[in-house]
Amino acid sequence: MGPTITSIDATLGATIIDINLADMDDTAWRRVEDAFHHYAVLIFPGQNLSGRAQVAFANRFGDIEILRTAAAAKSVAVSNQMRDGTLLKPEEHHYQILRGNEGWHTDSSYMPLAAKASVLSAQVVPSSGGETAWADMRAAYDALDEDRKELIGTLSAYHSLYYSQAKIGYLVETGTSYGFHTKGAPLRPLVKTHPVTGRKSLFIGRHAYRIPGLDDSEAQDLLDGLVAFACQPPRLFAHRWQPGDVVIWDNRCVLHQARPYDYREARVLRHTRVAGDSASELATTARDERASGFEPSASNCEALET
Ligand SMILES: [Fe+2]
Repeated sequence: MGPTITSIDATLGATIIDINLADMDDTAWRRVEDAFHHYAVLIFPGQNLSGRAQVAFANRFGDIEILRTAAAAKSVAVSNQMRDGTLLKPEEHHYQILRGNEGWHTDSSYMPLAAKASVLSAQVVPSSGGETAWADMRAAYDALDEDRKELIGTLSAYHSLYYSQAKIGYLVETGTSYGFHTKGAPLRPLVKTHPVTGRKSLFIGRHAYRIPGLDDSEAQDLLDGLVAFACQPPRLFAHRWQPGDVVIWDNRCVLHQARPYDYREARVLRHTRVAGDSASELATTARDERASGFEPSASNCEALET
């Protein structure tokens, strides 16, 4: 029996059952890859993948983006719980990163090479809240009127994690964690053409902050207005996690956010990020005035720490 694919009641997303992601034959894989391009978000309930199997699944989509250079880790915890069981406090950097994830964003748009896809699996979930939500930027682009499409089709925005964290009150020093780098802020067109499907989508989110040719307040109003317009039904759905669930989404054409929850409860997800392709996700950068310096690079990698 092949996988059973059921569309979610939104312009994006499907749930896939009758499949074991740790042991897929070529036919099942082709159906998953086709569904990924069609639905952009795939939910796989009850997979209970090991860390190694999750990385192997993500690796089918492309190279893995290394998010923690110290350990060259191919998967990382997205968690408010430390290894010793204690919970992060509001003054801690990683707590503040988690709060930032509650804004609509696309992963690694602030790096020279934006991400292709992201995989999350649920380990521990809070009693309520903590869902992940996605919004369809293909359908959002399609829903714009022609004048708006014409205007934004000529514009690009800079993306910066320093900027998006500062906007919610967190000023972060260079080198504190992944994304707070000296490679500069990438400049990315507001309209992205998907390298596989050819569909156009909005490429926006909380990391986008400045548009050449517009003054900063005008740019911010435009970007905020696009996100508010785009992230509305029927272009939107949220997944309520159960331990063992696995999800993959296409960062090239959807935004996502973590929904709030009571941070006095643990929420532990495992994350693997699939690197973008240079031909379609690499951007040139300009000095980010919030960084301590500017050393342009076409690579997201830091030198491996020993
Ligand atoms: Fe994210």
